[in-house]
Amino acid sequence: MLLPVTYRAGEGGAMEVGGCDLADLARRYGTPLYVYDEETAVGLAREFVLAMGARGSVLYSAKAFYSPAFLALLRGTGVGVEVASGGELHLALAAGFTGDQIHVLGNNKSREEIEAAYSAGATLVIDGAHEFDLITSVVRAPERIRCEIRVSPGISARTHQFIATGQLDSKFGFALEGGAAYQAARLALAHPDIDLVGLHSHIGSQISDLGGHQAALEAVLDLAAQLRRDAAWFMPQISAGGGLAIAQREEEAPPTPTEFVTALLDWLASGARRRGLDQPLLLVEPGRAIAGPAGVAVYTVGAIKDVPGIRRYVAVDGGMGDNLRPKLYGARYQPMAVKAPGAEATAKVTIVGKYCESTDVLATDEPMPNLEIGDLICFPAAGAYQMSMASNYNGLPRPAVVLVKDGKSRLMRRRETASDLLRSEIF
Ligand code: LLP
Repeated sequence: MLLPVTYRAGEGGAMEVGGCDLADLARRYGTPLYVYDEETAVGLAREFVLAMGARGSVLYSAKAFYSPAFLALLRGTGVGVEVASGGELHLALAAGFTGDQIHVLGNNKSREEIEAAYSAGATLVIDGAHEFDLITSVVRAPERIRCEIRVSPGISARTHQFIATGQLDSKFGFALEGGAAYQAARLALAHPDIDLVGLHSHIGSQISDLGGHQAALEAVLDLAAQLRRDAAWFMPQISAGGGLAIAQREEEAPPTPTEFVTALLDWLASGARRRGLDQPLLLVEPGRAIAGPAGVAVYTVGAIKDVPGIRRYVAVDGGMGDNLRPKLYGARYQPMAVKAPGAEATAKVTIVGKYCESTDVLATDEPMPNLEIGDLICFPAAGAYQMSMASNYNGLPRPAVVLVKDGKSRLMRRRETASDLLRSEIF
C-alpha cells in the first residue's frame, strides 16, 4: 500500500485522499503540505491491536510523528505510546494518554525526565547504568517505579546501518554478550525502588525480513530463562520494539501489521514453551508502520533546470528541511505528478528542494510525466520521520499539516511563519 487506503482517482484524474482533492488542499493550505489520512492511521493502529488481542499491548512509537492531534486520534484505537524523551512524554500527556499507557525510553535520560516519568506513573525502560542512582534519588519509598531493562541483543537487522540499533556496537541498552544485561536485570531485581516488569529489545527500523526480530526474541528469552533459574524471576512481559517496514515504492511489499504481530506471538509462544517458561505478554512499538502510510507530502514545482546531456532538475518548495530521509538513509520514494498520477513517464527528472545544499535531493532520476512550473508533486509514504525530523534550516518555516476524513480537512499544525523564526531568539 503506497497511497493511503482512501485514495481515489477523482474527476479528470485528480488525486483524492480522505475524500479531499489534493490540489484543492494545496490551494487552501499552501505547499509544502503534509496530508494525513485518518482512516489509514486509525486502521493500521487497530490492525495491530486486533492482531495482538489479549496476548499483549501495542505502543505507538511517538518519534515517528507526534502532533498531539495525531496522538489523540490514535488513543482511541487502544494503543499506548512509547516516548523517547521528556518532550515526547509531555506531548503524549497533552494528547490525553495516561501514565499507565506510556513507556519512557532514552539512552541518556536526565533526572528531570526520570522524575517526569515517575510522576506520570509511566513505565521506564532502563537503558544505562547511570539510571539506577537517578531512580534512587527520584522514587519515594515505599513506592516503586515500573521498569523494563533494555537489552542490546547483538543482532544486526537487515536495514540501513544508521537505523540499526541491536548490534553489539551500539549506544543503546545492556549487551547480552559479556553479561551486562544479566547484571542489570539482577541489579534491578535487587533495587528497592524498582518493580521489574519486563525485558526490552529493539533491533532497528524499516525492516522487512523478520528473522532479526525472531533471533532477538530468542536471545531475550534465553536471558529470561537464566533469570528465572538464578533469581526466581518470572518475566511478566517482553517488548520486541518496533521496526516493521513500510512500502516506499510500488514494488515493495513488507509484512503487514497482522503478519508482524502473529509471527512474533508464534515465536514467543514456542520459544517460551521450549524453555519451560510461562508465556509473557508481548509488547510491540510500531511507529513508521502506523504513521508512515497515512501521510502524503505535497509540493509545488518552482524551478526547472536542464543540464544538457546530464539531467533535468525539478525544484520544489520543500526538501531536506521537511524530509531528510533520502540523503540521511538513502531512502527511495516514489514521487507522483498530482495532475496525472497514472500518466506515461516522458523523462527522468531529479527532484530537488530549495535548500542551499547540493545534497538537498528528494528523488534522483525518477521517470515522470511532463512537469511545468506550478505543477504539484506528491510523495506517498511520507507520514513517519519527516515532519518529526523537520527543521528550520535556511530560515524556512516548517510546513502545515492537515488531517483528512470523509471529504473534510482540518489543520493539525499550522504553517510556520517568519515571525515563528524569531520566537525563541533573544537579541
Ligand atoms: N521502539 C524503539 C525503542 C525505537 O528506538 C524505535 C525507533 C521504535 C520503537 C519505532 O520504530 P519503527 O516502528 O518506527 O521502525 N529516523 C529513522 C528511524 C529511526 C528509528 C528510531 N527508533 C528513519 O527516518 O528511518
